[in-house]
This record gives sequence, C-alpha cells and structure tokens, in this order.
Amino acid sequence: MSDFHNDQPSMGSRVAAVEVITQILLQQGSLSTQLSRIQAKVDFDDQALLKEYCFGVCRHFPSLNSIALSLLAKPFEERDFDLYATLLLGLYQLQHMSTPDHAAINESVELCRTLKKDWATKIINAVLRRYQRDQDDIIAAISSQPSVEFNLPKWIIKRIKKNWPDQFESIVEATNARPPMCIRVNLDKVSREIYKNMLDEEGIVSRETSFSESGLYLETAVPIFVLPKFTEGFVSVQDEAAQLSAQILHPKNNERLLDACAAPGGKTGHLLETAPDVQLTAVELEPWRLERIEENLERLGYQVELIVSDAGDLKNWWDETPYDKVLLDAPCSATGVIRRNPDIKINRKPADIEALVEIQSTLLDNVWQVVGEGGYLLYATCSIMPEENSLQIERFLARTATAVEVPLNSISSHSINSDSTISKVATNTSNNKTDHGHQLLPKVDGHDGFYYCLLQKRDA
Ligand SMILES: C[S@@+](CC[C@H](N)C(=O)[O-])C[C@H]1O[C@@H](n2cnc3c(N)ncnc32)[C@H](O)[C@@H]1O
Repeated sequence: MSDFHNDQPSMGSRVAAVEVITQILLQQGSLSTQLSRIQAKVDFDDQALLKEYCFGVCRHFPSLNSIALSLLAKPFEERDFDLYATLLLGLYQLQHMSTPDHAAINESVELCRTLKKDWATKIINAVLRRYQRDQDDIIAAISSQPSVEFNLPKWIIKRIKKNWPDQFESIVEATNARPPMCIRVNLDKVSREIYKNMLDEEGIVSRETSFSESGLYLETAVPIFVLPKFTEGFVSVQDEAAQLSAQILHPKNNERLLDACAAPGGKTGHLLETAPDVQLTAVELEPWRLERIEENLERLGYQVELIVSDAGDLKNWWDETPYDKVLLDAPCSATGVIRRNPDIKINRKPADIEALVEIQSTLLDNVWQVVGEGGYLLYATCSIMPEENSLQIERFLARTATAVEVPLNSISSHSINSDSTISKVATNTSNNKTDHGHQLLPKVDGHDGFYYCLLQKRDA
C-alpha cells in the first residue's frame, strides 16, 4: 500500500481513516491500537470525525461489505485493500452520514490519487455513483442476506441464535447500537452522589447505574478531559458490567489479591479504589500493555506490584504464598463488547473461539493453584459464548475437586464478607441465569455483555 508516513504536519481525517481501516482489513492490530497510533497525526479538530469514520465503517462492515461486493465486478486483492477501505468509507458516508453525496464521491476519488492509485479512480467513482443512483434497488436485492439484515458476520449470528434464541433480537440490537458512555466514580475519593452533582454543575447529565454501586451513565458522551477532576483520578471510563468484578470480589485492606490478566488496568484500579491497602499483584502477558496499567494507576494515585508474565507460568512469577482472592479476567472473544470494538465484526473468526477456550481452560487450571484454601477466584469474560463461560466452568468444576461454585443469584447481589461467607447486599434479578455463573447480555443504553463465575477453594 502507499506510504502515508510523510513529514506533513497533519493528515486529513479521511486519509487517516483509510489507513486505519486498511490495517484492520489486513488483520494488523485492533481498531483501538490503530486509532491511537494515528490520531496524533490528525488535527485535533478532525479527530472526532476520524473516529466516526473508523468506528462507523467497522460497525456497518457486514452490510457495507455485502453492498460493495454486489457492485464490484471482482473483489479487490489484498494489495489494494487501501482502495477497498476507500470504497467502504465512501459507502459509509453515502449511507449513514450527512456528508453531501458529491463530497463523499469526489473525496473518495481524490483518495485514490493520494494513494497513488489513479488507475482506480474510475472504479471507485462508478461504484459510488451507481450506489447513489440505485441504492433502494441495490439494498432490496441483498436485504435477505443475514449479514445485511443483522449487520453481523454470519457465524456470529448463528451462534447467538443457537445460544440465546429468546434474546436474539435484543442482543443484535444492543450489539449494533452505539454504546452509552459509562463512568466509574472513585469512591475512595468522592461519593457517587457528590460526583453526580459535580457533573450537573458542568451541565453533564447523568444517571446512576443499577447494578454497579459506583457507576454513572452519561446522557451524551463527552471527551474525558471535560470530566471534572479526571486527571486527579476522581473518575474512570468503564462499562457498568466491568465494574462488578470489584463489587463481587470485595477486596479488603491487607488481603493478598491477584489480578491475573491485568492490562489495561481498568479493574486493577477499581480493586484498589475499593481497598487501597490491599496487597495486589497484577500480572500481564504483553509487555507493551503494561504501560497502560501504569498510566491508569498513576492517574488514580496507586502503586502495585506489576509483573510481565504468562499468569499460568507459575514458576516464572509466583513466590508460592497463596492469594486470598484472584481475579481471572480471561482473554476472550469479546462478543459481549462488539459495540465498543466493532472491528471484531471484521477480524474475529470461529476458530478464534476454540483457541480461546483452550487458553482460558489452561489459565483456570494453572491460576487455581495460587488460590489459598478458603480463598476465591472470580472468573470473568466479556463474552456471550457459553463455551467460554458456563460450559468452561462446568468442565473446570468436573475436573477440579477443590473448586465449588459460589452462587450469584443476581450479579450485584453478593459480596464476600471478611468471614468468607456470602452476604446479600442488593437484589436485582433482570439478568440471565445460566447453569454456572452469571451471564449479562448487552443492553441498549445499558451494560455490556459480560460473564462472571465466583469459585471458592475447599479441601479436596
Ligand atoms: C480482558 S483483558 C483484561 C482487561 C483488564 N482486566 C481490565 O479490566 O482492564 C485480558 C488481558 O489478558 C492478557 N493476557 C492474555 N493471556 C494472558 C496470560 N496467559 N497471562 C497474563 N495475561 C494474559 C491480555 O494481554 C489482555 O491484556
């Protein structure tokens, strides 16, 4: 592909978007990594537009892809994925944005020249003009394709239908919707009520989360620097469902706590806000992701022992002192958070799920060994696939005599007392009970899809 990395002071938002989308199509990293890599090259005022282009194309990829394929004589080859990204971006503007049609088309044609692929100007121009002219007929001709009807890859549609037949429509709706901005108030510094008032004073309308004790949904998303005392660590951006880990584990000062898959440190920070003097070890496999944990904790004002390692490779990092509580926020398909990571619609493949199930299973077996007798392990994923969640736990319980499940009748209804019993602290039953653990399914204007199962270690 063409070289975008010249010395020009700033990059146009469309050029940058084409680069990001091309990298996603080529399976080179995630949307968030690609966006953060390129964002600084784009003028500040254009960054929101860049984000809108990239998220929009990924969010609508299954249907845009079907439209594009129905209009092209032959699909673009991998070496021309920059042109394909240009076409998808053009179609996205025509179909979903208020960009005037002539601007969307002319700018797309101009992008071919920027990419030094002038030979493609005719194709891009012809396809976009055809779409502009005949869009109703074009869409009608492909509207029965599941990827167009549900705007998700076929294999994901099939799995959601099979696993959640009754909730299929609401899951699809929530998965395709724009997610609400949810923040977590640092209760170590300020109460949720006071922080809500601070938001009110800035004209930022919010409402309290119903499951999490520390969350607020914002009526309209705002840049983080607008949030009062963000840099002083009063607040973090985190979905409501993710906020429940600390609530369920309920760490106490001086307990030994392990955060086994820690980056970018969202839950690490929350665990520390809940008990600032907990003895916390955070383990993360990817060295480059450790920086994110450090940044997050520095802003919140906490320090922990950070280890770069495979959490399951105990010889590498464990001193054989057992932990009271362990959070295993395992790598997963992220099918509960597609609306926040819409590049999953492009990149995730069915085989990934099988590979992830294996990784999760090995991590569970290995990390279980560091849990002390009477101690707890909270298994968490942001997946809605039973094989990564309830079925994973079913198999773990069957092969692990020391493990017992601690029921979570409602996801926010239990916390662990210091005497290691479970007490009821709130009641809410609008979640989805599975055979093991608790599955939260994504909700429009509500929490993401997430899974939790709390396990306790007993004598064999
Ligand atoms: C779901 S994310 C964790 C999110 C994090 N707990 C938070 O709340 O911000 C999973 C993380 O586990 C890391 N990871 C994957 N395999 C791992 C392993 N074997 N040991 C430790 N970390 C691992 C990934 O690099 C990724 O950062």
